[in-house]
Amino acid sequence: MRIAIIGSGYVGLVSGACLADFGHEVTCIDKVHSKIDALRAGRMPIFEPGLEHLVERNVAAGQLTFSTELAKPASEADVVFIAVGTPSRRGDGHADLSYVYGAAREIAGALCGFTVVAIKSTVPVGTGDEVDRIIRSVNPAADFAVVSNPEFLREGAAIDDFKRPDRIVVGLAGDERARDAMAEVYRPLYLNKPPLIFTGRRTSELIKYAANAFLALKITFINEIADLCENVGANVQDVARGIGLDNRIGPKFLHAGPGYGGSCFPKDTSALVRTAQDSNAPLRLVETAVAVNDQRKRTIVRKVVSACGGNVRGKTIAILGLTFKPNTDDMREAPSLSIIQALIDLGAQVRAFDPEGMTQARTLLDSSVSYAEGPYECAEGAEALVIVTEWNQFRALDFGRLRRAMSSAVMVDLRNIYKREEILKHGFRYVNVGEGA
Ligand code: UGA
Repeated sequence: MRIAIIGSGYVGLVSGACLADFGHEVTCIDKVHSKIDALRAGRMPIFEPGLEHLVERNVAAGQLTFSTELAKPASEADVVFIAVGTPSRRGDGHADLSYVYGAAREIAGALCGFTVVAIKSTVPVGTGDEVDRIIRSVNPAADFAVVSNPEFLREGAAIDDFKRPDRIVVGLAGDERARDAMAEVYRPLYLNKPPLIFTGRRTSELIKYAANAFLALKITFINEIADLCENVGANVQDVARGIGLDNRIGPKFLHAGPGYGGSCFPKDTSALVRTAQDSNAPLRLVETAVAVNDQRKRTIVRKVVSACGGNVRGKTIAILGLTFKPNTDDMREAPSLSIIQALIDLGAQVRAFDPEGMTQARTLLDSSVSYAEGPYECAEGAEALVIVTEWNQFRALDFGRLRRAMSSAVMVDLRNIYKREEILKHGFRYVNVGEGA
């Protein structure tokens, strides 16, 4: 099949490279010339494990091309995916749909022969209807169908998620030709037999938000249980295991930590809350999770301050991990951002290290933050070492070396990657999440 993907950001690029790898002929389009130039030269605009190799292979095979122009690839495509950003609109928390609607207008003028317009961007319920209306009004003669096809990719594991999905969701508005085309797009996956769910377009749009909101609830729930564990002398990791073995609950997304961040959960929960309020069906659980997750960063700062004896003024705090999770360079809504700012406001000197996030971090964090080349340089002269993101390279640190480098041996492990006994053996004071004394 011929496929055009509008938006070569995280979702568009990963989807495009994977669809090309399935044997489709794919053009990834983006208005930003520097991004397309970089991609043509084999440089990735984001860090995602395996992506560079996948792109290289499919470009070499002639399956994947890049373009700044939409008209030609869209006119030749069987399916045009919209994968542009839907950031939070400043002020009201709704999703900003201007890029989606702009793409729809441009696609409308280019359509030639029956074409499926598939919305991969995360969009509020009813956006498909509006895209349909826009295309129809710009080009009344166009033969097309708008479908919803949300993505469920996790940053850092996106290629695997695309190639081995738990399910594929396609929301239709009645056109059988669109159903056939979308079945054809995902046919190469049928070997692994992932459930392919065809549903109404509005339902599909809501599935995406409901999935992210549910996962955000799960994380927020275990974070509150972690606080309770600390106060009553219980252990959250054992609680998570004990409840997660119940198939109805499941073991995933029950890791307590500094609160969820990233480019999806914070924005999507807030947009869903707004949609629900506007539709007279407020989602009070999700509203509360948003507030609790926000509050969590303050709780975490108090934890760090208390680990440092109640005061961080004039002390150097070493932060390991800045990105919102490992295996990405994405700093959007990373818990590190507000934790570091709060520590600086309390008079601390912050030194940080992250394997991939430091370039972005430099543009976002206070200019007083200094950056280290690695975990041991980061710990030099520090009062406390705070693990904020669970990168693999922080999982087997040399504690003797750390102890010698630091001015005081305090470790705050916000991701519970270590066991208390092993850290105590090295003479550290160890503070983690959800382990009561
Ligand atoms: C999330 C969803 O997992 C994807 O299915 C979805 O496609 C994506 O959003 C999206 O809407 O595009 P992502 O934001 O990449 O993916 O990352 P997650 O692995 O879900 O982690 C999100 C946040 O939750 C991170 O800050 C992570 O540290 C935190 N988290 C996750 C926890 O604190 N505990 C957990 O048990 C799991």
